[in-house]
Amino acid sequence: MSDYVWFEGIPFPSVGFETETLRKCCQQFVVKDEDTVILTYPKSGTNWVIEIVCLICTKGDPKWNQSVPTWDRSPWVETTIGLPALENKEGPRLISSHLPFQLFPKSLFSSKAKVIYVTRNPRDALVSGYFFWKDTNLIKHPASLKEYFEWFIKGNVPYGSWFEHVRDWMSMRERDNFLVLSYEELKKDTRGTIEKICQFLGKKLEPEELDSVLKNSSFQVMKDNKMSNFSMISKDDITNGLVLLRKGTSGDWKKHFTVTQAEAFDKIFQEKMAGFPPGLFPWE
Ligand code: A3P
Repeated sequence: MSDYVWFEGIPFPSVGFETETLRKCCQQFVVKDEDTVILTYPKSGTNWVIEIVCLICTKGDPKWNQSVPTWDRSPWVETTIGLPALENKEGPRLISSHLPFQLFPKSLFSSKAKVIYVTRNPRDALVSGYFFWKDTNLIKHPASLKEYFEWFIKGNVPYGSWFEHVRDWMSMRERDNFLVLSYEELKKDTRGTIEKICQFLGKKLEPEELDSVLKNSSFQVMKDNKMSNFSMISKDDITNGLVLLRKGTSGDWKKHFTVTQAEAFDKIFQEKMAGFPPGLFPWE
């Protein structure tokens, strides 16, 4: 059983994170105006959006995605490997992160960097996280989904509380350099959402280039691409390895929550997310 790396009251997975790197990231990392940041609470479609943004950058040419792992194309700034990799990168960078608002490098807030914040129904993020982490040495082993559910509600899961993460980052949603997307709209209208991302990034793609982005970021193509599916992560480093592309659907939680859990979750959601305008979250 592994425990977390704790930093400023937030639990981080026990492999790939160190308090010193987290401190340096939070206090010293310089976000540049030309950077693009992909920000999410874990298990919300982060890798899917990274795949899409990389393909937009290459105008649909899949070579980059087929030859370089996700974490090198768009490193996670808070990780022990990602932070120095980003510091040493020249030119416009793609930066990934799951950091909560209060721990993100402060330089973001005075920069013109473009931020894409992706939300997902927290019930699906919960189920996705449970299956992703449960048998690894990255987190404390949950005995069951029931136990993981309790941890999730309390924020005792990697990166802390979903509710705080989303509430805090969503307060930035009116900014010009901030684009909010949801996993659900990406599923429902993938092409339209890719076009929205292109517009936000100021990239004009020809229809056939857009077709290629769509094709090469599909669930099956990503699942078959070892640079994108996490199969390069050795079982020696992370017990049992990581299966990233599990189901790729919306609403899987309905197969896993009991009626009591579903009702309890609804109540907690209403309480914790009170004050947000109706319609902001497509799954509610
Ligand atoms: P499931 O576990 O529900 O299948 P993250 O990248 O933030 O870790 O999110 C992982 C979730 O996004 C997983 O959800 C995964 O299957 C889903 N996902 C990744 N790529 C996808 C794609 N191309 N299409 C649909 N879902 C995708």
